Amino acid sequence: MSGESRAKGLSGTLYGIGVGPGDPELLTMKAHRILGEVPVLAVPTSYADAGSMALEVLRPLLAQRERAGRAPDIVSLLFPMTRDPDVLADARRKNAEVLLGALSRGDAAFVALGDILFYSTFGNLLSGLFPLAPDLRVEVVPGITAYAAGVAKLVEPLTQGSERLGVLPAVYAPEEIEKALDLFEVVVFMKINKVFPAVREILSRRGLLDRTAYISSVGMAGERIERRLDRVAPDEVPYMSLLVVRKNGWMPR
Ligand SMILES: C[S@@+](CC[C@H](N)C(=O)[O-])C[C@H]1O[C@@H](n2cnc3c(N)ncnc32)[C@H](O)[C@@H]1O
Repeated sequence: MSGESRAKGLSGTLYGIGVGPGDPELLTMKAHRILGEVPVLAVPTSYADAGSMALEVLRPLLAQRERAGRAPDIVSLLFPMTRDPDVLADARRKNAEVLLGALSRGDAAFVALGDILFYSTFGNLLSGLFPLAPDLRVEVVPGITAYAAGVAKLVEPLTQGSERLGVLPAVYAPEEIEKALDLFEVVVFMKINKVFPAVREILSRRGLLDRTAYISSVGMAGERIERRLDRVAPDEVPYMSLLVVRKNGWMPR
């Protein structure tokens, strides 16, 4: 079936829903309503069980649906962790095919942790879908991002006044770390598990260890929030962790 004719056959809307960082109470009411009704639930299986973590957030809601005899079909979409363009293109095409199949029968929701448009596989999914189905109806429900939940636990402002915020999303070189720390008053480092020793070394050299919060598994089992980075050993940093550096320090207490 060509992309155009496939798009015309679609009866459903695709919902992209951020489910928040882990605590089911941080699911928005809109997400809760849509996820309480949608017949197909698609989850990413790409990194560190993130898909099943998104499902974990929905566990109370899914249990409710099951009890009511209205459990959704759960579909896993694979996002391989590789830079091989052929493998990525193949996965993008397969995921698009699977979702278009579901959307030809009705609505479907794709869920991911945190916010759905903030370093999420949803962007990748859409870039495979739109060429095949340009008229696809998509509705996005934003979610609470992990760093917002982390600073909430710390009871500290992320940014204030004229402070500039930089976010480093993934594996980065030491010179990028230095550059970010030169440019921004507040820097969020994500996916730190692989680069933790390098980041920590630079922060230590700059005298920022006590101005760096370590936020790990926020809202999930094993949550750990530390206001000082020198309390964290490199071998205990999981994938679901991030750092918030406030060069201007924390509020006086
Ligand atoms: C692919 S990004 C997803 C970001 C997500 N969309 C968000 O809005 O927070 C994965 C990274 O987000 C951060 N992250 C996501 N959930 C987290 C949590 N519950 N606790 C700590 N960090 C988390 C970690 O840095 C992790 O490596």
